[in-house]
Amino acid sequence: MAVDHTAVAHPNIALIKYWGKRDEKLVIPNADSLSMTLDVFPTVTTVRVSPDERADRVTLDGAAAEGEPRQRITAFLDLVRELAGRSEAATVDTRNAVPTGAGLASSASGFAALAVAAGAAYGLDLDPTALSRLARRGSASAARSVFGGFAICYASRGISADADLNAYAEPLSVPDFDPALVIAVVNAGPKPVSSRAAMRLTVETSPLYWPWVQASRTDLAAMRTALRRGDLDEVGEIAERNALGMHATMLAARPAVRYLSPATVAVLDSVLLLRADGVSAYATMDAGPNVKVLCHPADAPRVAETVRAAAPGSAVVTARRGPGAGLRTRYQ
Ligand code: PMV
Repeated sequence: MAVDHTAVAHPNIALIKYWGKRDEKLVIPNADSLSMTLDVFPTVTTVRVSPDERADRVTLDGAAAEGEPRQRITAFLDLVRELAGRSEAATVDTRNAVPTGAGLASSASGFAALAVAAGAAYGLDLDPTALSRLARRGSASAARSVFGGFAICYASRGISADADLNAYAEPLSVPDFDPALVIAVVNAGPKPVSSRAAMRLTVETSPLYWPWVQASRTDLAAMRTALRRGDLDEVGEIAERNALGMHATMLAARPAVRYLSPATVAVLDSVLLLRADGVSAYATMDAGPNVKVLCHPADAPRVAETVRAAAPGSAVVTARRGPGAGLRTRYQ
């Protein structure tokens, strides 16, 4: 009997960003990061072990995967097979509700869903921490999407001498903080430079990189306090400066990496105007031109309307905190 193992995971948006690795093969970040998992844009991934196939078959958003996306998925399956002590090929079908590779965290939901589905398909019995470590090997941000709500990803927790064991995410209990995140998709196209390549270039050439990592450590401590207090203005200010600082490190790379577009800047200006008008609204951007605006849920309709007017033609979606990655198994 063939068994389909289907997993669902949601993207997360970092309030304290991960940018840059100290080990590319093991995907170990240079610094800790902190995020909110969303309730929109799920990835649904089905994995079936296919002993009769000679090679993995991978379908991404309805089409046969090719090139780097396929290579990253098959390398991840190799890792799962190694952990499980198995060798059969797999059939993988993965669908993103969000444009892939547009800086909307599709790799986070993608590898979290793949870790859950492939882990189950090959019979790995992983606790959430181990699952998070496994997802990290696909994409470090995916370690956080294993958990719902807020999560912190440690670059090195220091529980062992083994770098792999020390890097994982865990949930962060934030009972008094339930914000909205208004997402302005100003451009849904794929990014010009992959985050992997951009990170490498930033770490190797940007004179602003290590000062930002240092500042990020201070930001993380302040962020934990602000979240505990449920203080949206403090959380927003820290998140905005952390994200702008990350983009500054890229702008100072040689050659510069610039993900921000004129539409991004127009949305950032509209966020400043909202604040001048007394609305608590704060922006964050990832490896792409799209802007996510943190605000009180009651202000979300006004924030959405403002950013839509600032970047006509963009899709605007309001997210709240969402669930962790999980399994939906079907028998055929
Ligand atoms: O995990 P990756 O390779 O998709 O890196 C993404 C990093 C950022 O989205 C820019 C920041 C973050 O912490 O999610």
